[in-house]
Amino acid sequence: MPNFTASAPGKIILFGEHAVVYGQPAIAVPVTQVQARAIVSPGIGLADGEVQISAPEIALDSPLHALPLDHAIKQAIELTLAALGIQRPTAFRLKITSSIPLAAGLGSGAAVSIVVARAVSAFFGRPLNDDRINEIAYEIEKIHHGTPSGIDNTVITYARPVYFIKGQPIETFEIETPFTMVIGDTGIPSPTSVAVGDVRRAWEQEAPRYEALFAACGEIARRARRAIESGEIGALGPLMDENHLLLQQMGVSSPELENLVTAARAAGAAGAKLSGGGRGGNMIALAREVDPDRIANALLAAGAHNVVVTTVGPSA
Ligand code: PMV
Repeated sequence: MPNFTASAPGKIILFGEHAVVYGQPAIAVPVTQVQARAIVSPGIGLADGEVQISAPEIALDSPLHALPLDHAIKQAIELTLAALGIQRPTAFRLKITSSIPLAAGLGSGAAVSIVVARAVSAFFGRPLNDDRINEIAYEIEKIHHGTPSGIDNTVITYARPVYFIKGQPIETFEIETPFTMVIGDTGIPSPTSVAVGDVRRAWEQEAPRYEALFAACGEIARRARRAIESGEIGALGPLMDENHLLLQQMGVSSPELENLVTAARAAGAAGAKLSGGGRGGNMIALAREVDPDRIANALLAAGAHNVVVTTVGPSA
């Protein structure tokens, strides 16, 4: 059997994070500058039925059976084998590499589940289709993130811009005019489940206030979609600023995110907001009529640990 390789991009949420968990629309796009990759090769030298996993970035080198039951990579392999109806696989090796920063809102967890499911199913000669891959990745998101909306696994599986409403069929949309985003990483790992759990508790205590915030985010996502579809990129900056204000009011910003958002605006960004779960992780800034490198340098000078410039377009 030959080797099988699968890769998947990272992602950013442009509009609507958190509110999307409560049924509002959100917009997310793939970020192809960062990638997760899985390679499955025959288990030459391994005992019968043994699966050996290596993932250098997380210092993992272990047989499958030695991993804890709740290990996301173990779950991705087992859900994939179950989907294929394979109870005792022939021995194989799985190597995972990724340039997607961990726990930073760029979708590293979903991307790893997706590449594992793709490469393992291809190795056994029955590559699962995107819909099945997306279901497997969502199962794993649910185990690890409590009440995920499913936006991460969806945008990464289909690797195209999505207008996402929880529980509804995937909707993609046209990008009339490409635009450039600068992504700044605070370097502070922020597990999405913690921020999502905190928002849920706050919503339980103050439902009317939170529901108004979620509804306002949904309206921004709808307006942003129309602006993107009609090429009115100038409208996006103010919408990002408004969305950021709502996320602040939900309690998911942080001093480090505020610092980078302020620095991006001062460097000429047309708009800036936190992206994803918040508290740490990433922020994004729209580079329009300004050199994206100017914003990138300002973010680095303000303490960003990493900066990625990405163009959002039809081929993204
Ligand atoms: O994975 P992150 O940090 O980009 O966050 C996902 C977005 C949330 O809306 C906060 C949670 C979700 O499940 O949609």
